[in-house]
Amino acid sequence: MKILGIETSCDETGVAVFDQERGLLAHELFSQVELHALYGGVVPELASRDHIRKAVPLIDKLLEKANVFPWELDAVAYTAGPGLVGALMVGAMLGRSLSFGLNIPAIPVHHMEGHLLAPMLEERKPEFPFLALLVSGGHTMLVQVAEVGCYSVLGETLDDAVGEAFDKTAKMLGLPYPGGPELARLARQGDASRFTFPRPMVDRPGLDFSFSGLKTYALNTLAKCAGSDQDKADIARAFEDAVVDTLFIKARRALRETGLGSLVVAGGVGANQRLRERLDTLDAPVFYPRPEFCTDNGAMIAYAGMQRLLAGKTAGLGVEVKPRWSLEDLASSVA
Ligand code: KG4
Ligand code: ZN
Repeated sequence: MKILGIETSCDETGVAVFDQERGLLAHELFSQVELHALYGGVVPELASRDHIRKAVPLIDKLLEKANVFPWELDAVAYTAGPGLVGALMVGAMLGRSLSFGLNIPAIPVHHMEGHLLAPMLEERKPEFPFLALLVSGGHTMLVQVAEVGCYSVLGETLDDAVGEAFDKTAKMLGLPYPGGPELARLARQGDASRFTFPRPMVDRPGLDFSFSGLKTYALNTLAKCAGSDQDKADIARAFEDAVVDTLFIKARRALRETGLGSLVVAGGVGANQRLRERLDTLDAPVFYPRPEFCTDNGAMIAYAGMQRLLAGKTAGLGVEVKPRWSLEDLASSVA
């Protein structure tokens, strides 16, 4: 069985073909980073328009690369939420239309389920059940994963998502959008002993997070010094260390509290090298997608779509997107 996956929830047009027997046949990605960099953040209307421009040529290129004819596809999976409503609509309309034209099922996929299952695309993959740490631009969550489709959210951010905190702090330090990877690069030149930022909410019980205070802490620290390149690198380092340490402490606590034996880390911030190094010191095996599948991509949507299809969860003719959508609703939903 071959599934086409389409991801358009934010600023990346991602498409992929996943084959049940042979695995990932091909994937293609177009990043809108340059388009939004001019504005310092994602402009939703521009994102939707660019998905419209790029999606069809990207699918043509993908099918050629995968050596698959459209009529050989068995289903089309698309991201139905959460995300930007206009951007989601582009992928949903395209996915639904293709499935209608080819007379094959359409499968709406939850974007975070895609992230969460992305490590399954690797040779070294986790076994169920496991704990997942989802760290993206829009979400920060610790999730107990019993099996595909059965998720309990153990903790989440009360304010900024971790990627959002990276991006906002990076912007404050004068770094271009998207700031996360830029901040991580700058932090490499920073002196770890100069500033110590707080580890938010670690002395309270529970598994929720809060990252907006760190951004303010970075702003206040910057205001107190001259703002030289070295000052900025030292602030970047202190910020990154505080985030990494906080995620480490909460992941370790969740493993202890649940008794789960392995950890999956996914979402854009999962590409962060210092986070990976720190989590690798945990007393449990840790699984990551390859860095290019940490950030948004079509492969994770095609894979999650395959799992949904195998579970018999396809959709009717209607097109519905859910800009806000809880992972926990998946077990009971028909889609
Ligand atoms: O998962 P993703 O591609 O999109 C969402 O679903 O949000 O995550 C994007 C986020 C951005 O905030 C970006 O700055 C952050 O992931 N990010 C990083 C790194 N690479 C991407 N943050 C820190 N270090 C990185 N190496
Ligand atoms: Zn994402």
